[in-house]
Amino acid sequence: IKKIGVLTSGGDAPGMNAAIRAAVRAGFYYNLDMYGIYRGYEGMIQNDIKKLDSRNITHVLERGGTFLKSARSEEFRTPEGRKKAYTNLKAHGIDALIVIGGDGSLTGAHLFYQEYGIPAIGLPGTIDNDLSGTDSTIGFDTACNTAIEAIDKIRDTATSHDRLFFVEVMGRDAGFIAVNAGIGSAAAAILIPENKTPIESLIEKLKSRTKAMKTSNIVIVAEGGKSGSAQEIADKVKKFLPYYDIKVTILGHLQRGGAPTSFDRLLASKLGVAAVEGLMQGKYDVMAGLINHKVVFTPIVKAIVDDKKVDEDDLRVANILST
Ligand code: F6P
Repeated sequence: IKKIGVLTSGGDAPGMNAAIRAAVRAGFYYNLDMYGIYRGYEGMIQNDIKKLDSRNITHVLERGGTFLKSARSEEFRTPEGRKKAYTNLKAHGIDALIVIGGDGSLTGAHLFYQEYGIPAIGLPGTIDNDLSGTDSTIGFDTACNTAIEAIDKIRDTATSHDRLFFVEVMGRDAGFIAVNAGIGSAAAAILIPENKTPIESLIEKLKSRTKAMKTSNIVIVAEGGKSGSAQEIADKVKKFLPYYDIKVTILGHLQRGGAPTSFDRLLASKLGVAAVEGLMQGKYDVMAGLINHKVVFTPIVKAIVDDKKVDEDDLRVANILST
């Protein structure tokens, strides 16, 4: 392997820049040529590909977002799109890829490897933490910290006015951010996509907290939850508990930005180096992750299957602490 292309794809995540920088620096260390593919697979199709030098990666480690930009490419889902992408890669002589993104992006890398044999290593770059083969995805820790910081502020005003807040956090189909942010912000309840919390049990909980003289309540709702959106749940609860002053806050894309935490910087740096070294060792069609602080390579097909579960013990702890 002599020329490696790096791209970020799907929803951006804090720490993506740190991962790109680590991969590119490691590439230079091993005398490889490193190429930036802009806007993910879209740039591969549009031939938006540039050779990187050390100036490209100066002062990016600490910045949120991704300087390579990101996109969700519809065209890459088609065989014609992938053919164009392959032709462009070959024209640049790129013989391997590092793909930083979530499950959709890694699925693209896997398909491309199957069809064209382009060696690829995926790095888990998503705030959702919904990939197997790594304890944490790049960006998850930062997103949880951002959510907690925002919820702390909501707590101040909720307490002043004795209000009940429903705070919606991101996570697509996974409740990892909700559980982490919920425990970290002393939430009264956490509603996640993996479980359907009956409205009656939520109401019982809120009633028991009223009896316990808890005047401010924050309920964390993960988007995409089976119980409904934060607004829908708030509307239902209002019917049963009309005396509550209820507000809804959707944290939204706020959670995707910001400087990465020290944890995400370390994770991204280790995995960026691991990606280059993995490719050099012939590890293809795998995702590099960190399990118990050690780099582990997991076949992409295994990493993207939906079997990473929210920790049952976290849910137990959340329940004990919100009683
Ligand atoms: O996958 C990351 C994520 O932020 C999810 O939590 C969320 O559901 C989705 O992306 C939002 O996507 P977009 O930025 O395209 O609206």
